[in-house]
Amino acid sequence: MLTSTQLQAVATLAARRAGEHVLENLHRRADANSVLRIDIKHKLDVEAQDVATAVIRAAYPDHLIFGEESETPCPPAKGYVWIIDPIDGTVNFFHGSHWWCCSVAVQHDGKTLAGAVFIPQLGEMFEATHDNSAFCNGVPLHVSEQETPELALMATGMGKWRNKETSLKIFQAITELVQRPRLMGAAAADICMVAAGRIDAYFESGIYLWDMAAAGLILERASGICEVLARYPNGRLAILATNGKLHNPCKKVLVPLVAEQKK
Ligand code: IPD
Ligand code: CA
Repeated sequence: MLTSTQLQAVATLAARRAGEHVLENLHRRADANSVLRIDIKHKLDVEAQDVATAVIRAAYPDHLIFGEESETPCPPAKGYVWIIDPIDGTVNFFHGSHWWCCSVAVQHDGKTLAGAVFIPQLGEMFEATHDNSAFCNGVPLHVSEQETPELALMATGMGKWRNKETSLKIFQAITELVQRPRLMGAAAADICMVAAGRIDAYFESGIYLWDMAAAGLILERASGICEVLARYPNGRLAILATNGKLHNPCKKVLVPLVAEQKK
């Protein structure tokens, strides 16, 4: 059986190398294969996934690897599966925002054992294993102590899922619930901010496993809660990630709206 420390080292190296490749190619930020109204297919997404894959393959040639850029659907939750989001926040990256990251997680029989989220333009590496604390650049992470929703800062996302009516209802509900809502545009980095206590909560409907696998573990190991509130066709998820103290108040408001979105 592999130790979580061994797996963590490979996850961190894969995320770091992917991020460094993108950093070395910042001058190519407009080098996309396609730029659509709701999505951007970037050449560096594909390249960064290849870089991360090479790191994992060199260590574990027989493990399954799955990423946002993979052409096959997510493999069954059996054995070791690596999950890569090569650039989370591709649209931000394309426009020149620094808010993007590289995420690598490893699961065994569906349980996340280790994960790393690298935010290259902040120079921050977030990492965790299932049996230890979460760290940012070697410093232990802890969620915020905020327990009053009206004083909380909460991030959310309006992704590629264009169920506008319910998405706007959810945004309005969050706006009414917390002190300020924020739409920052990179789910994995946003969830790491909850782990670091820099924001108090995050919710998004329509993200995928690769957006949250590593960051969800990092948050849990920083004493927060990352919960799948709903599963939709094609692997889309509704995710609530909080400091724990705000979890139930957020859930109370969001669960009925998520149910509405499911219809
Ligand atoms: C996106 C980002 C964004 C979220 C979208 C995701 P990508 O991931 O995480 O914050 O709103 O739902 O698809 O496409 O940039 O990897
Ligand atoms: Ca993503």
